Amino acid sequence: MLKDISAVITDPPYGVEYRGNEWDKEIPNWLSMAQSVSNCIIFTTGIATLWQYPPADWVGCWHNIAGASRSKLNGFNHWTPILFYGKPVFAIDTFETKFGVTVNENKGIDHPSPKPLRLMRWLIENSTNPDDIVFDPFMGSGTTGVAALQLGRRFVGCEINQKYFAIAESRIQSAALQPALLHVAQQSVQRTGGESGQQNLFTVGNPPPSKARGATRRR
Ligand SMILES: C[S@@+](CC[C@H](N)C(=O)[O-])C[C@H]1O[C@@H](n2cnc3c(N)ncnc32)[C@H](O)[C@@H]1O
Repeated sequence: MLKDISAVITDPPYGVEYRGNEWDKEIPNWLSMAQSVSNCIIFTTGIATLWQYPPADWVGCWHNIAGASRSKLNGFNHWTPILFYGKPVFAIDTFETKFGVTVNENKGIDHPSPKPLRLMRWLIENSTNPDDIVFDPFMGSGTTGVAALQLGRRFVGCEINQKYFAIAESRIQSAALQPALLHVAQQSVQRTGGESGQQNLFTVGNPPPSKARGATRRR
C-alpha cells in the first residue's frame, strides 16, 4: 500500500509546545521516511521551526486572518507556511480563511489544533487525482482523511494518540458513508494494526492496483 502513495499531505507537530501539548514539543524525524514513499510531500509548519526542514521546492501560505499567534517582531502573525516538496500544480499558492470561520467549522472536534477542512481539500485537489492515495502520518482528528474521501481519493493515515485516532476514525467513517460523495460511499473502511499508535493505520477504499501510480503532480 505505501509504495502506491501519490502524495503525503500532513500537519506534523510544529515543535513549539502549542497549548502545552507534549506531542508538539519536538518535530519528529519523519520527512526522509515520507520521501521514501512519495515524491510529493506537502505540509504545514510553524514559522519559527520552518528552518528545521531542508529547503523546499516551494513555500505556500495559509493566510489565517482569524489566527493571532505572537511573532518575534513584537506583534502577531496571521499566516502559516506550507512546504512543498515535488511539483504539484497550484495556480495560486495562498489559501485564505476568514475571521471566525475556522473556529465555527471546528466546533465539536476534540483536538487542540484541527486544520480547516477546506484548506486540506485545497491541498489535496491541487496535488492529486481522483482515486489517488493520500497519506497523512500525523492525522490528528482526521481532517485530511475526510477531505480526501470527499474528493474521491483513497486515504491512509497514522496517529499516535489513541483518543485522537478514535476521533479520526469516526470522522473518516462518517465521510465514507456520505451518500452525496462520488464513489466513496461504496468503499469500506478497514482498520489494521495493534496497540501502538503508529500501527493504528487504516485504509479507506479498494486495494491499489499492483502497478505503482507514482503521481507527482496533477495530470
Ligand atoms: C498538528 S496535529 C494534526 C492535526 C490534524 N491536521 C487535524 O486536522 O486534526 C499533529 C498530530 O500528530 C500526532 N503525532 C505526534 N507524533 C506522532 C508520531 N510520531 N506518529 C503519529 N502521530 C503523531 C499528534 O498526536 C497530533 O494529533
